[in-house]
Formats: sequence, structure tokens, C-alpha cells
Amino acid sequence: MSNKPALALLLGLLGLSNSLPAMAEPDGAQLYRQHCGKCHGSDGRANTLRGWLYFAQNLSKAKWQDSNSDRDILDAIAKGPGAMPAYAGKLSEAEQQALVKAVRDLRKP
Ligand code: HEC
Repeated sequence: MSNKPALALLLGLLGLSNSLPAMAEPDGAQLYRQHCGKCHGSDGRANTLRGWLYFAQNLSKAKWQDSNSDRDILDAIAKGPGAMPAYAGKLSEAEQQALVKAVRDLRKP
């Protein structure tokens, strides 16, 4: 009995698993531009008409970044304080987590 068919099958499976796309990570920066930039601004400084109208938080401020945990940011995204819409029902948990990272990236020294 030859092992060749089994070997070929194994190599085939390996090749297949290599070509499977990696689990798609949600793109936080893109989600931010899509959902948040209109109020908080592309740089987080809320220097937008809606930002002014709604008193949106300047998310780039180091002081604000320091006084808010990832949990606080996630809560704000899920529940939407004040005039901000809630995203719990609109975005997946993974997308909300990716947005927390995107908000952290807005930090200015
Ligand atoms: C309609 C305009 C609007 C949109 C869209 C919006 N926000 Fe807000 N956001 C606000 C306003 C206004 C506040 C301040 C509310 C308050 O604390 O009184 C706020 C507050 C926050 C806070 C909490 C600030 C704090 O000090 O607790 C975070 C974090 C935040 N927004 C992130 C986001 C993210 C991320 C998105 C996109 C998923 C988003 N916002 C979309 C208007 C908006």
C-alpha cells in the first residue's frame, strides 16, 4: 500500500487552509469616518457644524483620553450619551471594539 494518496490529500488540505481568507477584522478607522466623523470630526476634535450644534466631545484631548477607560468609550458608543445616537443595535460587538481603538488613535499629545 502506498501513502501517496494520503500525502496528496494532506498537502491539498494544507494548501486550502493557507488560501482561506483570514477572519475579517472590522476596520475601526473606516467605521469612525462612516459613523462618527460627522459630529466628532475626522480628527476627533468635533470641529464640525454638528459637533458645535450638539456639543460633541473633543475625543483627541489627552486629558479626556486619560480620564476615560476603554469601557467608558465602549459604553458611550453602545448607549449614545446626550444627542449622540446609540450604536448597540447597529454595530456588532467587534465593530464597537474596533471603534474604541479608533478613538484611542485620535489622541493628540
Ligand atoms: C449626532 C452626532 C454624534 C455622532 C454621530 C456621534 N457622536 Fe459621540 N457624542 C456626541 C455628543 C453630542 C456627545 C456628548 C454627549 C454628552 O456627554 O452630553 C458625544 C459623546 C461621545 C463620547 C463620550 C464622551 C464622554 O466624555 O463621555 C464618546 C466616546 C463618543 N461620543 C464617541 C463616538 C463614536 C465612536 C461615534 C461613532 C460610532 C460617535 N461618538 C458618534 C455626538 C455624536
